[in-house]
Amino acid sequence: MNKTLLIGAKGQVGRELQSTLSGDVTALGREDLDLTQKEQICQVIDSLQPNLIVNAAAYTAVDKAETEKDLAESINAIAPKILAAECAKIGATLIHISTDYVFDGTKNTPYLEADKTNPLGVYGQTKRAGEIAIQNSEAKHIILRTAWVYGTYGKSNFVKTMLRLAKERAELRVVTDQVGSPTRALDIANAIAALTLQDGCESIYHFTNSGVASWYDFAVAIFEEAEKLGFPLKIKQVVPIATSEYPTPAKRPAYSVLSSKKISKILGNHPPHWRESLREMLQKLSTEQ
Ligand SMILES: NC(=O)c1ccc[n+]([C@@H]2O[C@H](COP(=O)([O-])OP(=O)(O)OC[C@H]3O[C@@H](n4cnc5c(N)ncnc54)[C@H](OP(=O)(O)O)[C@@H]3O)[C@@H](O)[C@H]2O)c1
Repeated sequence: MNKTLLIGAKGQVGRELQSTLSGDVTALGREDLDLTQKEQICQVIDSLQPNLIVNAAAYTAVDKAETEKDLAESINAIAPKILAAECAKIGATLIHISTDYVFDGTKNTPYLEADKTNPLGVYGQTKRAGEIAIQNSEAKHIILRTAWVYGTYGKSNFVKTMLRLAKERAELRVVTDQVGSPTRALDIANAIAALTLQDGCESIYHFTNSGVASWYDFAVAIFEEAEKLGFPLKIKQVVPIATSEYPTPAKRPAYSVLSSKKISKILGNHPPHWRESLREMLQKLSTEQ
């Protein structure tokens, strides 16, 4: 019987994985398994003896990471190294999620899995260190890089923040010179579940929803779709601004589009377009309000 350990089960992607992963799944949140605690990680894995570990936990506060480097490193780099070592010991496979922020955004065509990484900030650097630790381990593994994640669950994300602000304000200024592919957490969880059913696909994969948008395009789409669904919005105008007009502690890649060609070939389908997934996510949110 296949036994799966899901770590970070209460995050945006983790919550979705709870329903997409099949078989005997033990889903643990931070209160049950804290990735800063090496002994706890080893104890849990030793007593459960899973065949598969899916790590959906991460330190994801991109700006805060600039001043919390040790904590980000502990969760994003050291913990994956420990997970990989434990997997190697018991012959389990590790599926780990990584990010578009391992790239510097200087390309202008979609990033391929083999492209050179060059993270611009602490978050990206620690995520890349986690990837390297796993790649250098003896563990069977899959690393799935994704980007611009939003979902129904989780504390906050761009969609939820935009909806909250649009209820309070008539005008919003949103960055237009960073482009990527907004990606629904449920689509990532579906892709991971599909990968677990494939044989011999150990590697690194990029997975995002199809299509490209700037944060400005994404915000405009959120308001258009939300309005159609009857969300109470005060917003009248979205003003496109440059990154330089909205300074943040962490530098972000200007272009972070990932090519999902490799994973599409393996799974035999293309990821849904970001706008379609956004519409579906908002429909779900609207029924829960
Ligand atoms: N969010 C994005 O835009 C984005 C973009 C590209 C890639 N990714 C990657 O996608 C993956 C999933 O991200 P997400 O958006 O689902 O993130 P999320 O919603 O922030 O979830 C991360 C989860 O990790 C947990 N966690 C944090 N520190 C932990 C610790 N010490 N021990 C155990 N659990 C801990 C968090 O728990 P608490 O809630 O208690 O802190 C949270 O439930 C991550 O690998 C992330 O790097 C995300």
